[in-house]
Amino acid sequence: MQLRSRHLLGLEGLTRDEINHILETAFSFKNVLQRPIPKVPTLRGKTVVNLFFEPSTRTRFSFELAEKRLSADSANFSASTSSVKKGETLKDTLRNIEAMRMDFVVIRHSASGAPHFLSRCVDASIINAGDGTHEHPTQALLDMMTLKEKTGKLEGLKVVIVGDIEHSRVARSDIFGMRTMGVDVGVCGPPTLMPRGIEEMGVTVYPHIEDALKEADVLNMLRIQLERQGTGLFPSLREYRNYFGLTKERIDRLGKDVIIMHPGPLNRGVEIDSEVADGDCSVILNQVTNGVAVRMAVLYLLAGGRGKLEGDDNA
Ligand code: CP
Repeated sequence: MQLRSRHLLGLEGLTRDEINHILETAFSFKNVLQRPIPKVPTLRGKTVVNLFFEPSTRTRFSFELAEKRLSADSANFSASTSSVKKGETLKDTLRNIEAMRMDFVVIRHSASGAPHFLSRCVDASIINAGDGTHEHPTQALLDMMTLKEKTGKLEGLKVVIVGDIEHSRVARSDIFGMRTMGVDVGVCGPPTLMPRGIEEMGVTVYPHIEDALKEADVLNMLRIQLERQGTGLFPSLREYRNYFGLTKERIDRLGKDVIIMHPGPLNRGVEIDSEVADGDCSVILNQVTNGVAVRMAVLYLLAGGRGKLEGDDNA
């Protein structure tokens, strides 16, 4: 099967079959990554530019690694050392880059909708690596891959996303993707960080983390995004931790296992305690590992991949 679009701009509108196909392809690539030589020639001759206008560790590095593992040529663009600093527009930047013949553009930008805008300006396939407070589709895909790997299913799981829902592109992509896959999604956080009308996205709102903990199979703890917030959305980081932090005491009191996820980077001691982030129930580093396979799958499928991966009996 082929994906309907040549871009990955978000998970809103992707079908269950498309998401399943991306996840199954990612599991096949995870097998490739466990071989002695973790590399396939699948994208030989294709060129990818990684266009990051915002800082990133996990997403940027895992896209770069995915491109290398697929034998693509890749070039990295950093806004801080580019002609953007001299006032060049986003559209001009991309059209100049495309003039050097790029097949894929992976873009992270602070403006919601930037990848959608670019997809109308250029011929290359655009992959959204996080746009403002809108979507972060490959993060949600790797979250779902990690849950499927850990529990064997997605349908029927109860996942509660805790924290700054208002400013979170991860929350939006998780809600779109997980609901499509039959996950029962809840959200929990201070009312000032909860988008108005969030219930219309088909999620349950938990004002108290204790109630969320009782019902959840999985907690996805979000970072407090101080860089995107105005002031006064909650009194202090200490108060936030008291009401919404995933503390060791809260986990110890629970008397059941919950799977702990976090997209990173962590604010240790704010939304999550170190003992919890590094504990037995945490799959935070599994998420990071799966990020490479998911990004390989997205690049492969957007390039028109279908059928068996070369040399892989499990595809
Ligand atoms: N999860 C995530 O997007 O992390 P980075 O900002 O490090 O890419």
